[in-house]
Order: sequence, then structure tokens, then C-alpha cells
Amino acid sequence: MLQKPRGTRDFLPDEMEARRTVEWKLREVARRFGYREVCTPAFEDLELFTQRSGEGITNEMYVFEDKGGRKLALRPEITAAVIRMYINEAKVAPKPLRWCYFADCFRYERPQKGRYRQFWQFGVELIGADTAIADAEVIMIAAEMLNATGVTYDLKVGHLSFMKQLLRDLEPAAQRRVMAHLDKKDFDGLGQTLAEMGKPDLAQSLTNLISCRTLAEALEIVGAVPGEERITQTLGILDAAGVRYSLNFGIARGLDYYTGMVFEGFAQNLGAENQILGGGAYRLAHLFGGDDVASCGFAIGFDRVMVSLGNVPPKKDTVLAIVCTNEGRRRALDVARAFRETGIRTEMDLMERGLGAQLAHASKTADYAVVIGKREAESGEVTLKNLHTGEQKTLDLAAAVAEVKAYGAR
Ligand code: HAM
Repeated sequence: MLQKPRGTRDFLPDEMEARRTVEWKLREVARRFGYREVCTPAFEDLELFTQRSGEGITNEMYVFEDKGGRKLALRPEITAAVIRMYINEAKVAPKPLRWCYFADCFRYERPQKGRYRQFWQFGVELIGADTAIADAEVIMIAAEMLNATGVTYDLKVGHLSFMKQLLRDLEPAAQRRVMAHLDKKDFDGLGQTLAEMGKPDLAQSLTNLISCRTLAEALEIVGAVPGEERITQTLGILDAAGVRYSLNFGIARGLDYYTGMVFEGFAQNLGAENQILGGGAYRLAHLFGGDDVASCGFAIGFDRVMVSLGNVPPKKDTVLAIVCTNEGRRRALDVARAFRETGIRTEMDLMERGLGAQLAHASKTADYAVVIGKREAESGEVTLKNLHTGEQKTLDLAAAVAEVKAYGAR
């Protein structure tokens, strides 16, 4: 028997309905803040992803060559593609651009609970606004979205200026190595790397910085940092807006395009794979041939949110079964159409079963049955049976529709 590929999942209808329910809560928050949905291809030129992160990233991606010899990759994330699209399609559009997306990403990772090879991100990108309030708006949306889903979470906000200030004497490649250790919270590796670089004392300053919980403490350790005033302003706006967050200057972010504010969300009830959101301010456009536009965004790991939420009850839809004899079939089709036109989920027998077998099946799958035999076909009335109570009555079609609608609205 063939199985699905490793790290992928199938979703049955109950689960899909639960996912759509949560997805729409996220869409609704995006809409209220004015973020409009965009869509980019599932695969891109490999170069889009290697340009900033180097060839090493290919180990973590699905990379392939198409029949025309082009090197392509399934998207491991969507930010780079959105910025490419901005340069291709919307460079001259009035700024700022407020965009969002909900789409699947592919990463060649070792699968475990909450870590998949195909997973979905709900993301937001704000392009072309380089202000404190812009950074704050994106963080506010992140918090609102997590609130809307109902997950219990911690939101941690940091800024790369502090770490970069401590690491200012290192070459960019060395900085990246150090940041990678910090991102993975690999403090042993960090100590070793810094010792190799001849900077063992940096380990202590970095450890002190990471444990700071206020801006004042961080400034005391690092001294003045570029953009200090803007950081103060952003945090002030978040406080005024009542956003619940804590400061964490150890956030390094794995993707190396971030330039300023960075933030991450963690589900309180998840273990190893508990990071449910990540984002920050970044600059990518200049790498893809565009102007050096400031952007800020984040992506929610939708699948991890669903794991954190556990069982979300699927949307309760009233189900009507049309049960008919051969003589009643023509009229049954008209009756089914009438119910569907009013928005009621209506299912007809497709198995050519007898009336008794149709009713037995309906009692397992539906709330109501409309029975149409020879008598109903001739009289123009229908027999409506409530499959929960067993109550049965003969009504005209409009009254039957009204009763089923009233049941759905109760
Ligand atoms: P990221 O932190 O790499 O950021 O991914 C965002 C979120 O996707 C993570 O916090 C996590 O919840 C989820 N995620 C990542 N890998 C997996 C996986 N293998 N299985 C399940 N969920 C996963 C980005 O992708 C950036 N593009 C975010 C961003 C948008 N920055 C600016 N704009």
C-alpha cells in the first residue's frame, strides 16, 4: 500500500473544517488591519533563497532541476518570494504595502510532532514603512492574531542592534556563526566558537545581554546602540496598546535577513517545537534588484497553532438527507435544489438503496430527512423527519425549509 511522503500529512474533513475555522480567524485580523492577501508560486528559482543565506541552505530545502535545466526550489518560506514579487509587480505602488498570505512551505527537516516537511504559514509583510509605529503595528497584529486563535503564548521582542553592537569587531561571517549558536540556544558551541575566534570574553557579555529583561539593563551592558530612540518609541507604542510581551535580547532569528526589531511567539503548552511565530524588520529588496526598501513582517506556524489548540470542534452544519423512492426522484431533485438554494447542506441517496436503508443511513449522517414517495410527489407536500427525536410531519416545502433553517440557527 502506498503511503504519503515522510513529513507530510493528510487531513480528513473534520480536521480541515477545524483548520479553516482557525484560518478565517487569522484572515479576519489581517483584514481589520488592512492587510490584503497575495499569492506567489510554490517553487522559485533556487537563487532567490541562496542569495542571502548561501549555498548551505540547499541542505534544508527541496531542490530540483526541471526539464529545461533550471535550478528550482520548493519555497521554504514566503518572505523572499513576496519581496521578489514586490519588485517585479508593485515597485511603484503607493507605500506602505500591507500584504498577507496563507500558504504551504517545504523544508527538508527531520520530522517530529510540530515539525513537518510540508507546513503552512500565515504571514504578514509591511513593505515601505520605516518607522517605530510600523514596527509596532506588525507586532500588534502578531499578538492580535495569536489572541484570535485562542492559544496561550509568550511573545518575546528583541532588537538585533544590541547583539550586533557586542559583535561589531567580528567579520560578518563570524557574526553569523555566533548568531546561529544563539538562535539554537547552543551555549556550549557559542563558547567554543568564541574561544576559537580569540574572543572568549564575549561569551559572558552575550550571556548577560540575553538575561536582560529591560531596555535600561541592556543599554547598561552594551552602551549606546544605533536606533535607540526608535526602539524606545516602538516599545512605548506597544505598551500604550496593551500588547503583552517580554523583552528578550537573545533573539537572533535563524534567517539572516533581519536588521532591527525581531520577535518570536511561543506556545505555553508545547514542548520542543513550541515556536509558533517568528518575524522582524528586514531588508531584502536590494538583493533582488530593487531599491533598498524597509520591510517588517512575521509568519505564524499554522500547524503548530493547531497542535497547541488540540481538538477544535469542527463547524456544526445542519445536514438534510433527501430520502426518496423511484417515483419520487424527479420531485426529490427539485426539493433538494430548493433546500440548497437556501444554504442548507443537502445530500441525496446515490446508492439506489430502498427507503428503509436510506433512512438508516441518514440517521447516522444527517439531522433531518425529507421523505418523498409517490404520495408526496403527487401532493406537492413533503414528509420531514427529525432524525434526533424521530418526530415526523407532513408540510409544504416552504414550511419544511423554515423548520430546518430554524434548527440550524438555534
Ligand atoms: P521562521 O521562523 O523560519 O520565519 O518560520 C515561521 C514559523 O513557521 C516558525 O515560528 C514555526 O512556527 C513555523 N515553522 C517553521 N518550520 C516549520 C516546520 N518544519 N514545521 C512546522 N512549522 C514550522 C520565517 O519563515 C520568516 N519568513 C518569517 C517572516 C516573515 N519574517 C519576516 N516576515
